[in-house]
Amino acid sequence: MSESAAAFPPIASYQADPDSVARVLLLYSGGLDTSVMLHWIQERYGAEVVTLTVNLGQPGEDWDFVAAKAADLGAVASLVVDARREFAAEYVLPAIQANALYGGGYPLFTALGRPLIAKLAVEAARANNCDTIAHGCTGKGNDQVRIEATVATLGPELGVIAPVREWQMGREEELAYARRHGIALSGGTEAPPYSIDDNLWGRSSEGRSIEDLGAAPPDDVFQLVTLPEQAPDQSESVRIGFEAGAPISLDGESLELVALIDRLSELGCRHGVGIVDHIEDRIVGLKVRDLYEVPAAAILLPAHRELEKLVSTSHQNEFKAGLDQRWAWIAYSGLWYEPLRADIEAYMRSANQLVSGEVTVKLYKGSAVITTRSSPNALYDEALASFGASGGEFSQNASPGFIELFSLQSRMAYRVRAARAGEEGAG
Ligand code: ARG
Repeated sequence: MSESAAAFPPIASYQADPDSVARVLLLYSGGLDTSVMLHWIQERYGAEVVTLTVNLGQPGEDWDFVAAKAADLGAVASLVVDARREFAAEYVLPAIQANALYGGGYPLFTALGRPLIAKLAVEAARANNCDTIAHGCTGKGNDQVRIEATVATLGPELGVIAPVREWQMGREEELAYARRHGIALSGGTEAPPYSIDDNLWGRSSEGRSIEDLGAAPPDDVFQLVTLPEQAPDQSESVRIGFEAGAPISLDGESLELVALIDRLSELGCRHGVGIVDHIEDRIVGLKVRDLYEVPAAAILLPAHRELEKLVSTSHQNEFKAGLDQRWAWIAYSGLWYEPLRADIEAYMRSANQLVSGEVTVKLYKGSAVITTRSSPNALYDEALASFGASGGEFSQNASPGFIELFSLQSRMAYRVRAARAGEEGAG
């Protein structure tokens, strides 16, 4: 055992006992941290390592290359799982139905991905006789919470190791370790300027110059979305079809969710849509600035919300806004198996049953503006709404009566307070 491995007995019962780590399932991205980790675990624990890489639609990844790299670094097996469809159907779709934006701006792509990655890790650990799961999260972020809470829930027999929390290597030491052990650095030894995480629902950049709150977002962060000032001068519109709160078509063409999101991402990227500069309250207390690129979410979430508003009563709309926020917090904080999430989703499915129809969104130099909406279930009657019309279920002559009753309590309260204020002034 090395001095730098975690002290034992551990603080949490799920932390792996270093002496009984024999076969580790490592969540492997192919980047510097997890590549160094793959070697480090074999060296420090004398353990075998199986790697798992999860495809959640990260753009531009070469999965065969990542798997081959893991094998080169000594993995006894290197697994790649394409989980895009499950991610879209079981994680992103409920987020759309929950209009999920944490802190008013973050569509939760990373937060949605982690519980799925951790679930797949538990399954792969069991299938490959691993006793321990290792991940590359630091001790300062939310991702450790999401992964470890999920592993402890679904795989209570498994131990967890988080080498970045314990090995006390900075970037320079990691690079030195990589050089010493012949670990190839795909990106070269240039420090990637930012910490990046992505999947089909969005991309985040953190760290380095982004931490300077007084500085505008550096242009080089945005590798996905075109800067709005460089976007085409010509706007483009897209018509999104929904069925029971789920997006099902673009411009009349039926698409399954992964393809639909990919298509909207492309459109949004072209038109500079979905750049978010966000100060986030982390689960672990810190406030951190994140720069997000969320082209598909920036189009789909407002479109869904618009249709929901049109179909639901004002009572439902007000009630659901509170549930939406609660759902987003549960997802953000990594408590994916908290039963309240399922309880809330049961309501959301019910409230979304009639959320069907079409919404057109116009994309132009960074903005996504809704221009048309229609639903067979809209609580909207053009004849009643139209200016000047009276009759049927809406009589303008009935309004004064309504106004008198509607304002009754507020008017009485005003009178009472005015009288008390007068007494005070006199006395
Ligand atoms: N702040 C966001 C969140 O907590 C993004 C995290 C990105 N993760 C990363 N390892 N870079 O969900």
